[in-house]
Amino acid sequence: MKTVTLNTGRYSYDIIAGAGLLQQAGTLLKERGFTGSKIVIITDDRVNSLHGDTLKKSLEKNGFEVRVISVPPGEEQKSLETAGRLYNDLTDFYAERTTPLLALGGGVIGDLTGFVAATYMRGVPLVQLPTTLLSQGDSSIGGKTAVNHGKLKNKVGVFYHPRLTISDISTLGTLTPRELSNGLSEIIKHGVIRDREFFDYLEENIDKIRKLDEPVLEKVVSRSAEIKARVVEKDELDTGLRNILNFGHTIGHAIESVSGLQVWHGEAVAIGMLVEARISNLMGMMKNNELDRLKALMKAAGLRSEPLELDPEKIFVAIKHDKKVINGKNRFALPLKIGEAIITEDISNQIIEKALVS
Ligand SMILES: NC(=O)c1ccc[n+]([C@@H]2O[C@H](COP(=O)([O-])OP(=O)(O)OC[C@H]3O[C@@H](n4cnc5c(N)ncnc54)[C@H](O)[C@@H]3O)[C@@H](O)[C@H]2O)c1
Ligand SMILES: [Zn+2]
Repeated sequence: MKTVTLNTGRYSYDIIAGAGLLQQAGTLLKERGFTGSKIVIITDDRVNSLHGDTLKKSLEKNGFEVRVISVPPGEEQKSLETAGRLYNDLTDFYAERTTPLLALGGGVIGDLTGFVAATYMRGVPLVQLPTTLLSQGDSSIGGKTAVNHGKLKNKVGVFYHPRLTISDISTLGTLTPRELSNGLSEIIKHGVIRDREFFDYLEENIDKIRKLDEPVLEKVVSRSAEIKARVVEKDELDTGLRNILNFGHTIGHAIESVSGLQVWHGEAVAIGMLVEARISNLMGMMKNNELDRLKALMKAAGLRSEPLELDPEKIFVAIKHDKKVINGKNRFALPLKIGEAIITEDISNQIIEKALVS
């Protein structure tokens, strides 16, 4: 079991990663002062059928009165409509201001539950129990919560930190290989922007990760969370440094919208990282051999190592609509080398096009 503490000055909480933690969740919560009797698990039907009972039993064993609220799986549930239904369910259960909400699932459940916890009765305690590699290594850390509005992703949301995050790496065993690779993308990103040694470690252990070697997964999830936590601590509200977490995302978001969501987020970010690393290379920053290493790791992780054939014009239009555009200028987080990144603005369409097709 590994523990990372995230401390923004205003908020401080632990992010625990390890095998079999759902079985210990009741004890972990009690140890940390969660004493009220009522507790609510918010999850999706797939995760509930696989892991819901383990968590529920562990809580009941420790004296909690548990209510499980399950929604269908899928991004569509990140909506104000579903949030509204959850408020009704919480009211029916007589949930109080001290009743903790436990988010058991991937990033969708984490974002939705976080939003509901932040707004129900002006805020109730939130605990994240992420069950995908993407949510354990990335989305459950940093306090961003949101629902979508119409076609606009994450349009309505608030910053709201959990009191505790428990990442049970044993739950990753029920993911498909595609879901696992999708989550690896953001973890690789953390190595590229902040930690060369971690990138080396990922290169050396990529096969073990994909075979779900527990000590390796524990280290990978925990270090990935730590890298993100250290960035968030310096820029909680996303006004500066936190932008470097957007490496791969300017192009990645454009790919997601152009592909009509056929390409998943992590997969799109992987292609985005390659294109953006190439932009850096074309600007004389990232060296050829480092670009090759990134490509090789992506391939070994089961992600695409060659860009899609994309119409540059469509990508330019999509970039213009992105929320990272400020005063009409695009904004990229680009790696200088493996382990270090900078924020740049106003990259010319000519360079972007060259990077897209090369
Ligand atoms: N808040 C943030 O900072 C942040 C950052 C990145 C992404 N996100 C959000 O995260 C979401 C994507 O998260 P995701 O990739 O985890 O998707 P997800 O939550 O939709 O989960 C993917 C699928 O895996 C299933 N699943 C989850 N855990 C499982 C397990 N252990 N075994 C078997 N199946 C399991 C789910 O039922 C779902 O069908 C997006 O909505 C994105 O906007 C948020
Ligand atoms: Zn992302």
